[in-house]
Amino acid sequence: MKVTLDPAMLDEVLAGLGATPRVLPAKLFYDEEGCRLFAAITELPEYYLTRTERALLAAEAGAIVATLPADSSLVEYGASTEDKALVLLDALAAAGRAARCYVPIDIATPALAALTARLAARRPGLAVAPIAADFLAPIALPAAAPRPRVGFFPGSTIGNLEPAAARAFLAQARATLGPASRFLIGVDLRKDPARLLAAYDDAAGVTAAFNRNLLVRLNREAGADFDLAQFAHEARWNAAEGRIEMHLVSRRAQQIRVAGVTLRFSEGDSIHTENCYKHSLEGFVALAGAAGWDARRVWTDADATFALYLLALGRAG
Ligand code: TRP
Repeated sequence: MKVTLDPAMLDEVLAGLGATPRVLPAKLFYDEEGCRLFAAITELPEYYLTRTERALLAAEAGAIVATLPADSSLVEYGASTEDKALVLLDALAAAGRAARCYVPIDIATPALAALTARLAARRPGLAVAPIAADFLAPIALPAAAPRPRVGFFPGSTIGNLEPAAARAFLAQARATLGPASRFLIGVDLRKDPARLLAAYDDAAGVTAAFNRNLLVRLNREAGADFDLAQFAHEARWNAAEGRIEMHLVSRRAQQIRVAGVTLRFSEGDSIHTENCYKHSLEGFVALAGAAGWDARRVWTDADATFALYLLALGRAG
């Protein structure tokens, strides 16, 4: 048995699989295959989030950049593709207030390197300072990223954080970005649960493959022996918490070995792998406010499917 997973990550995995209810850390999703599957999810007919946010950004780019400072650095949290940032960077340049630097931050090192290489070809004049890191950890921005800084957190990734963790992240970003910063955040809004469930359980089974890829990864990197066919992908709407949950549900009683540890599953036991919180328009304003940010503007599509919030430092900032 060979274990190549980072020891701290392995500890987290074993603690999570031993807990009640069982959980796995979501950052485990983004190995190379996970990044590829996630990119495929963003193109699915049921997965309205990416295309709605992209259309909103394109439609409102002029209005958005009119609220941003000139000569800023654009700092993107969880940057898996440069496409959304380019909409902002190009609109800033067209308005005569080009950003001085783009700082993509992501935990998936190969994807970040690919993004950086593409940008060098697509926008040769643009200064890019990538940071390979877990964006939830405290990050020191390089001197190459001058102030004022504009944070950018698209994709409703903030919804993958527990509300308390989202608040802590927003407060930390406030300190990282510093004086006179702005923060543009994409947030998927509450809606008909049937539409939400379809987005996380598509007909082609891509989201199921993305979820099961966690087990593939543990088999390869943590000496595990999960039988993929014996775990069902399930998306659940948790109305009380206002979130979509992703689960991997054991189809029968079974024993699994992970890094030499034996785990016993009963039929129907679930591993809870992800949460996607869906905020209300006002709910997110309150969450940002609790972290010291004022929501200065919000843009939504005609059906209020998705929102882009422009945050500025609150009175305390
Ligand atoms: N933030 C996106 C969302 O919540 C992307 C995402 C995170 C996702 N985990 C996921 C998408 C799991 C599908 C399945 O939708």
